[in-house]
Amino acid sequence: MLGLLAMGWACSNEKSEEAVVTAADSAVWSAPDTADWAQQPDGDLLRYGRALVANTTAFFGEKGSIASLTNGLNCQNCHLDAGTRPFTNNYALVASTYPRFRARSGSVETVHKRIADCFERSLNGTAPDSLSREGQAIAAYVLWVGSNVNKGETREGAGLYEIEGLDRAAHPDSGKLVYAAKCQSCHQVDGQGIANGQGGYTFPPLWGDKSYNHAAGLYRLSRFASYVKQGMPLGTTHDKPQLTDAEAWDVAAYVNSQPRPGFDLSADWPDISGKPADHPFGPWADSFSAEQHKYGPFKPIKAFYKAKKS
Ligand code: HEC
Ligand code: HEC
Repeated sequence: MLGLLAMGWACSNEKSEEAVVTAADSAVWSAPDTADWAQQPDGDLLRYGRALVANTTAFFGEKGSIASLTNGLNCQNCHLDAGTRPFTNNYALVASTYPRFRARSGSVETVHKRIADCFERSLNGTAPDSLSREGQAIAAYVLWVGSNVNKGETREGAGLYEIEGLDRAAHPDSGKLVYAAKCQSCHQVDGQGIANGQGGYTFPPLWGDKSYNHAAGLYRLSRFASYVKQGMPLGTTHDKPQLTDAEAWDVAAYVNSQPRPGFDLSADWPDISGKPADHPFGPWADSFSAEQHKYGPFKPIKAFYKAKKS
């Protein structure tokens, strides 16, 4: 109980007292131990699933050993450390929350459907059959990552840590400066990254034909800003961010104002009032501008829907 209280306290007064911060740290979620795989009957399947997540391109990229289905990104490019890194878009909450209803499709989704979404949008391609050994291995691995989180439980560091919205719109022009200073050395001035000559990348592209399409999670400014704040430039962790929140939002605006592949969105959000504030494609159940849905500020939009509900 004391630990829990201390945690709440530590969150609101981040840097004040070492002892308290340690108590909070010990409560941060971490993935189960892969050493246990040696004793598990499905250890080989899990090992294969992890390889598919970490090095997707070797199996499914342009020169994939199994099939050519994807754009050359690895799941791990966005789900760092094969989806196990705390705060950074990890898979901690998948096992405890799927199958679940998602407003984007307006249906109850299985874990296979959710994985296929990332293949089709983030990897701008096609998912392997969920019944194939690969489909089974990815799902088994993703579920294993969150196997130490109970249903209904929320854990510090689980999933994607969301940063706060700005009180102004995010600025692509300011973001361009952030990009030049802190991203361009790896992702390149044209955003195309650096290919590794094997159909994949040493530094993945951030826009253009080989990037995620406009239906992907990262195309929403809040997802991009939150991911980048926790994980970029490379080497960044939640405890050692290298961008201010404003820089993260502005660079998100810059990158997501560049061209990228499209996607048929006609089946998404059957109930338009369920769209998140930063879903940039209309129609919307409000009168905020398209510009504001893309760049913010998002707080007034969220407040509008909150008031409507109550
Ligand atoms: C370009 C970035 C990107 C790539 C590549 C990517 N994802 Fe995702 N993925 C995301 C984002 C963003 C989310 C949404 C996170 C959120 O909204 O909390 C997400 C969500 C998920 C979720 C649901 C997580 C949850 O807690 O509900 C699963 C499962 C998932 N991805 C699996 C995969 C798999 C498997 C691959 C590779 C085939 C992959 N992703 C590739 C960006 C990516
Ligand atoms: C030192 C090199 C380096 C720098 C600097 C860097 N990145 Fe990355 N970035 C990477 C690598 C490598 C990955 C893939 C990570 C992995 O697979 O573990 C990546 C992945 C990404 C991804 C997800 C994959 C994709 O292609 O969509 C995004 C988004 C991203 N970086 C944005 C940024 C932004 C924005 C900045 C500047 C604030 C930045 N990066 C700075 C090396 C870098």
